[in-house]
Parts: sequence; C-alpha cells; structure tokens
Amino acid sequence: MRQLGSCAALLVSGGDSRITPDPVTGRNKYGCLATPDTGVIALGSSTASSISEKGFRAAEALRLSCEQQLATASEAEVYRRQMDLVRGELLSLCGCAPDSGVEAVIAASGTDMHLLIAQLLQLPLTLMIDQAETGSGLAAALRGQHFSKDSTCLGGIPDTASISNWQGALQMLAARDETGQALTAGQMRESLFAAAEPVLAAGGQILCILTDVSKTGLIFPDIASLKALQQQWPQQVHVLVDACQFRIAQCSLQAYLRHGFMVALTGSKFLAGPTFSGALLLPASVAAILRSRSLPPGAQAYSVAGDWPASFAAAQSLPQQANFGLLLRWEAALAELRDFVRLDEQHIRDFLSDFKQAVLARLSSEPHFSVLPNPALDRSALHDSDSWDAEQSIFPFLLYRPISAGNRQLLNREQTMQIYLALQQPSASHRYQLGQPVLCELRDGIAVSALRLCVSAAMLSAARQKPVAQQLIDDALAALDQLAVLISAMQQPPNTSRL
Ligand SMILES: Cc1ncc(COP(=O)(O)O)c(C=O)c1O
Repeated sequence: MRQLGSCAALLVSGGDSRITPDPVTGRNKYGCLATPDTGVIALGSSTASSISEKGFRAAEALRLSCEQQLATASEAEVYRRQMDLVRGELLSLCGCAPDSGVEAVIAASGTDMHLLIAQLLQLPLTLMIDQAETGSGLAAALRGQHFSKDSTCLGGIPDTASISNWQGALQMLAARDETGQALTAGQMRESLFAAAEPVLAAGGQILCILTDVSKTGLIFPDIASLKALQQQWPQQVHVLVDACQFRIAQCSLQAYLRHGFMVALTGSKFLAGPTFSGALLLPASVAAILRSRSLPPGAQAYSVAGDWPASFAAAQSLPQQANFGLLLRWEAALAELRDFVRLDEQHIRDFLSDFKQAVLARLSSEPHFSVLPNPALDRSALHDSDSWDAEQSIFPFLLYRPISAGNRQLLNREQTMQIYLALQQPSASHRYQLGQPVLCELRDGIAVSALRLCVSAAMLSAARQKPVAQQLIDDALAALDQLAVLISAMQQPPNTSRL
C-alpha cells in the first residue's frame, strides 16, 4: 500500500516556511508542535496553535483513509475527492445551503488566499488596513509579490520578486492613531474615501479589504462606510472580507456573502486548528465572474488544482498534485468547527463576557499592564441580529516595568518580544502561549507592541463544563501573574520612556 508518511510529518508539509519545525525543538516559529502539546496553556489563537488531540485524531483517520484510497486512485484524484468533501463540509458548517451557489477555494494559509485572489483579480489599487494589524505577509501578497523567500507551499525558491507581470498599487490605511486609539467611524470614512475616490472617479476598479477582525480585534474600515463606497460605485468596488481570524458568527458571515462580498477564513486562528490553513468563500455572483479566470504560471507554486472547485478555470492552470499536509490541517480544523457550531449561543456570550471581565479587571489593576482600548464591534450596518461576535475574543495589552510607587516604564518592542518568548519556555509552573506582539504605537519615538490574550473556539467548546470554564479563566490570570514575574526579573531596560 502506498504510504503517505506520518501524520506529524504531513502536518508540517505543503506550507511556507512559517510552518517548518525547528529541527531541535520540533516547534515552528510560533512555538507550536505538529502533535498535541499537553504542557502548554494556549492563549495565542490570534497567531497560531498546536494541533489538539481531537484534531490530531481526525487528521490521522483521514491519513489512513487516503492511504487506502491510493490503492485504486492517483494522489491527485484522492486529494480532489477529499478536498471536495472539505469544501462541502466547510460551506455547510458556515451555513451555506447546497443551492446557495457559494463556492469555496482552499489555500495553504490566509496570506496565500490573499495572494491568489489578488492574482485572479489583478486590480490597479488595493486598500487594506495598516499592516501591523494583519498578517505580516499580506501587503506583499496583495501587491503581487512572494511574501517571503520561502513563501511557496509547493517548494522552490522564487527567482523573481513578482508572481506575475501584474503589479498592483497598494495603500495601507491606519486603524489606530499615534497613541494607539482606534479611529472613529468618521475618521475611517474620511481616509477610505480619500484613498478610493481619485481612482474610482477616473473609472478604475479597486479591491477593498474589510478586516473583520484585525490582530488586535478591530473591524476596519467601518462597514457602513465601505457599503456607502460600494453603493456609489457598484461596478468598480470589490470587497474581500478578511475574516481570517474567523471570529465571526454565522449570521455575519452570511450577511457579508449576501452583500456580494468575498470572505477569507482560516482554520488556524480562532478555530485553533494546526498552523496554517486558509479558505475563501465566494458568493454566487462573484463565483460566476471568477469561474472563467485563470491564474498566471507564478501562482502554480502556491496552489494545486484540487484546491479549487473543478468548474473553475484556475484549476486547469494549476498542477494536478496533492497537498496532503494542507488537507489534514483542514480536517483537524473542521473537527474544531464541527463542535463549535453546536454550541449554545448564550454559552458563547457568557464565557466571553466572564473572560473579558476577569482579564480586564486584572489588566487594569496591575502596574505591569495597560489595556489597549478597543471600540465596540459594530456590525449594525451589516445585519440587525444580536450575535455572539459582538463580544471581543482578543484582549490586547501593553507591558510596563514598575520602578517606584506610581512610576513605571513602558517596555519597548524588543523587550515585549523577549517576555513573550520567555513565557513559552518551560518553567517551574507552566508554559503560556499568547498572541505574538503586535506593533501598535510609537511613544517618544520608541516602537511599542501589544501582547494578546485570546479565546479560541476550542476553549469555548471545552468551557461547556463549568469547572473547565473557571480553569480557563484562572489560566489566563496565571499567565498575567507569570508575565509580571518575568517583567520584574528583567534587567533595567535601556531606552524606555518614563510615563
Ligand atoms: C486579520 C488577519 N488576516 C490575515 C492573516 C494571515 O493569515 P495566515 O497567518 O493564515 O497567513 C492574519 C494573521 O495573523 C490576520 O490576523
């Protein structure tokens, strides 16, 4: 029988170098393993997660099934068959009826998905949120460039900077001001229209990325402004909702699709599936247009035919190959999503609200921390449902070193990174994984960044049992305690501003 290799080895294959494990530690650059990591308290789902036991079991079962199918079918055939099932189940778990006409495309990560859609659309201008608030490779991917020197998921080092002859302009719009405050709806509208209008008025088309939600939990730009822009220029404004954090309720996702917006998702942030996996949902109206588009040859290093619905011309221009690593990563993510969609909406809200209360109370009362403020998540221009995604599930905060009563120093970006990494090292108590630091402001010319405590779908599933729910909140508070210990143990930091 044709062997595919071990499940753990497959899970770290078929992606860019971000998923490659360190040969000594077995961990990728985010500290995640390809096997369940029982010793870690995982609070970093906004960045990446190690696979859960449930996810690993699902991936292993699919690996064995694929090996059996390979007795009578080629790798490409087995891959297409299984990816069709993944697409079908993802659509169904997202509430898309079989006759909705919504199509799903699979990619190696959220960044890869942005890269592929940019190549398919090839528009002259793309508008996106400030790059600190989103995936670090997104700007390059949307401009038509390889997002790192090891960005291809099918191997090979790109010999040109660009994926194809097309090079789009990209404009990034700030989501926070220089003090870290999120922009108001009025400010967002102003900067969106200022960037878009000159191109639209000249008859050009643009791609607007609506980030819901960003790395620190923002919706940007505000939905009402983007809808207004699109209503004014319906043929020229294309909207891709970057819901790669997947922190949106089914009714929000469906409302975006009803508006004719494309929606990018991942299985590896809120869902806490293994690093990394991406998907794109195309509403029927957009699928009808994109179905006949082909991809340039440079995209062949990022996608295979089976990642696309068979009716898409893009599939014809891609290699008839299999990416079993990506298939297994999605299978593990779907195991989390299956459980999550069964949860009672009220349970989700209650846990998110209890978690927020406990965490914000601690962050506001300790001199080592300050909360990075987030406005309420406003989707009122999208739908009038009262859904769980109105609650935040990412809690960003800054770190300080208390120096005397009432006096403290803000840690700079490098120091925050140092503390974030130290938190993951084995210690007397526990290892904690938080969302990796996000650059969020400059204070006195010094770059500072925020750490993030995150709730995942997997945590919400586990929290159905009351004692587990309390334990999860206690774990988050213990992570903050450990952070305070690490900060206090730091050497006197040079170059920090006194506040
Ligand atoms: C809002 C958002 N979009 C896109 C991405 C990129 O997704 P991926 O890490 O799967 O490439 C990220 C990554 O953190 C993100 O936070």
